[in-house]
Amino acid sequence: MVASLRLPRFQTLRTMLSLSWVLVSILSLSLQGAVASPVELESRAEDPCVAIAGQKWVAPSAVRACFKSFKVDEAAKTNILDVIGKTLAFHASTNYQIQAPPPFHNDVHEDVIKSLARIRATRYASDYDLHIDLSRTLKRLNDGHCVWINRCYDSSFINYLPIPLVLLTEKDGSQTVRIAPEAFKVASAEFPDHIDFWQNSLKESLKGKLESLSGAKVLLINSRPPNVAVDANAKITGSYQGLGTRQNSFFSSYQRAASGWNYLMGNFAQQSLPLDDEVKLLVQREGHLIPEFVTIPYRARIGSAINAFTDGASFRAKNCVAVRATNGVDLNTESLSRLAPVEEVPLIEAQQQPPVPVEVQRKHLINVFMDGTPLSNVVLPEELQPLSPLNGSRNAAQFHMLPDGKTGVLVLGSFSDSSFDGLLNSLLNGLLNLKSLGATQLVVDVTNNGGGFICIAHYLHRLLIGPKDTTVPQAGLDTKARAGPLAQLIVKTIVERDGGVDDQLLYHPANWRNASNVVFGGKDNWLQPPVEVTINGNKDAFSQRLGQECQPESFTTPPPDKGLFPPDKIVIVSNGRCASSCSLFSITMSKHEGVKTVVVGGRRGVQQQYCGIVGGQSTDYSTIDTEIKTTGLKNHTLAPPDLVVNGVQGITWRLGFGIHNPEAGEEWEDHPADLNLPLTAQTVNNPVAIWEELTKRFF
Ligand SMILES: *[C@@H]1O[C@H](CO)[C@@H](O)[C@H](O)[C@H]1NC(C)=O
Ligand SMILES: *[C@@H]1O[C@H](CO)[C@@H](O)[C@H](O)[C@H]1NC(C)=O
Ligand SMILES: *[C@@H]1O[C@H](CO)[C@@H](O)[C@H](O)[C@H]1NC(C)=O
Repeated sequence: MVASLRLPRFQTLRTMLSLSWVLVSILSLSLQGAVASPVELESRAEDPCVAIAGQKWVAPSAVRACFKSFKVDEAAKTNILDVIGKTLAFHASTNYQIQAPPPFHNDVHEDVIKSLARIRATRYASDYDLHIDLSRTLKRLNDGHCVWINRCYDSSFINYLPIPLVLLTEKDGSQTVRIAPEAFKVASAEFPDHIDFWQNSLKESLKGKLESLSGAKVLLINSRPPNVAVDANAKITGSYQGLGTRQNSFFSSYQRAASGWNYLMGNFAQQSLPLDDEVKLLVQREGHLIPEFVTIPYRARIGSAINAFTDGASFRAKNCVAVRATNGVDLNTESLSRLAPVEEVPLIEAQQQPPVPVEVQRKHLINVFMDGTPLSNVVLPEELQPLSPLNGSRNAAQFHMLPDGKTGVLVLGSFSDSSFDGLLNSLLNGLLNLKSLGATQLVVDVTNNGGGFICIAHYLHRLLIGPKDTTVPQAGLDTKARAGPLAQLIVKTIVERDGGVDDQLLYHPANWRNASNVVFGGKDNWLQPPVEVTINGNKDAFSQRLGQECQPESFTTPPPDKGLFPPDKIVIVSNGRCASSCSLFSITMSKHEGVKTVVVGGRRGVQQQYCGIVGGQSTDYSTIDTEIKTTGLKNHTLAPPDLVVNGVQGITWRLGFGIHNPEAGEEWEDHPADLNLPLTAQTVNNPVAIWEELTKRFF
């Protein structure tokens, strides 16, 4: 394909070439500079990005060739490293992550500042190689709040296989990796324009029989036991501290999204970078005794956010440089609405929640997981979707009643929504409706819930449990913010000016409360004096302990005077991928109220965590940049420069204190699931079957 494209193009160039010689000989020398020299034309003809331009599906090797043709721009490299490094001074976990305590001592041990210095001193064959090192370095934190995403590469082409995998437990208790029973249905619906390519890629007897692979047992992946591939992925996938959770990300799962029931392909069948070209499997198909080798190519589909390009230069110009919302704004002269519409804000694209406009994120604080892959819009096959949602259902929040007539289900795929009050009222109405229909027990399914509005997490807790010392004024965690030198200067500036637009800033004292839950006055310098600590041998400084900010303003519809379900009649279930505000909800429900947690799936013998990456409040470079610009500190040596590439750096801005161990962060506490529900061919990726199985075993 590359060769056939190159030839005609080269001929066109040759024509242009002779024309340019004519022009050159006629026109003056000054014009000569504007005409490409023969050498430049030759190298453009060799440009591997030309071969993938204008195509929807390409070979991953062709995408890689394009990416690897970009040399490192030393100025841009310095800029990226400066932005990441200086933004990390606002990330509360940096020093903790050098060596996490048990149970995560084997999972989190990355000195990211040292690694950035190593990267600065390393020479890379291409800008893509630099990106992989940077991206993986941040991912080694296993913290989905603190990731580096470069839209030039991450998910600009998404690499797919039509055979998502699942991990099933057989009747005898043994576990097998299988091609998902629904694999062909999902793939043929999602890739109708490309399924034939895969059908034709299968060898002789299997040609055109992709469907027959659904449900097949996978005995080897690239000549090694499947667990080797699962564990190799767990090392680079990032996002969650818990090993079990990262292992599970290899496999497919479901998610209730705002638009409907979605299917997450998992890291085996979907890569945000063109890492692999093909996979060789040894499979045993259903109804067959003899295992067969099958080789299936990965194929890269162009990402929906990529702007059309014709060659390497235009790919970079249109997709790799900073966009309008990459950097922050000076609120003295610009409004946050400049960072609209939502679909053009790189930060919002990375957040694993229904899009929430930047202004709304200021008003209703969020804590949310970020990922280089945008939210999935692959559809869960209809026969696996729960039917007839009940009154109160809205976007990612859906209510169902099981046939037993007493088990209500709240599916909550996110704690975010386009409207804060809309979600809040939907939760109240939906739960009241379930009760009016006779529900006496409740399953809360938070599978793949990446978090969202912090105060909705506390509101839901308060609704379910009722008023008591753990829920009034609210059910969250106290937090601390990092108090680095520049953060201290920001607060000092705000406090001294005491007016203007500063009340829109994150660091404004009136946004926060002290540990007795008393709101700071506009002139209270809440970062003074900083609390100085030594973490993993490094000196660090934090704010005083902060109380909670949800009540009463955020609870726009007051919750009822009594809890809606007794704690022992509530169970929280997920695949462990419950992050951020979802963690805040699950942890406080579990630790304060004794509500039981269940994780479905996962490798036997590996402790499943019912949630991960707690954080406290997440934010990112562009938000911090607005704080810096608005307080006139952009010229400070500690201020990150404006980012020149199409990137996003997330951080944890406030870190929650532990519940059982109040001085340590909840981030580093163990969150073992009370029950691990093994997945079978009948229950995998089938929410209703999971809820029914759970109800049988649990209540
Ligand atoms: C749904 O709930 C709303 C608000 O409580 C109510 O007005 C409406 O009648 C209900 N609809 C059904 C079908 O129950
Ligand atoms: C919070 O502020 C109030 C009012 O200034 C004060 O009385 C209280 O002691 C403060 N609490 C803490 C923990 O600092
Ligand atoms: C930063 O420094 C430049 C050059 O000295 C100056 O033009 C600019 O106004 C300064 N900006 C701020 C926010 O102080």
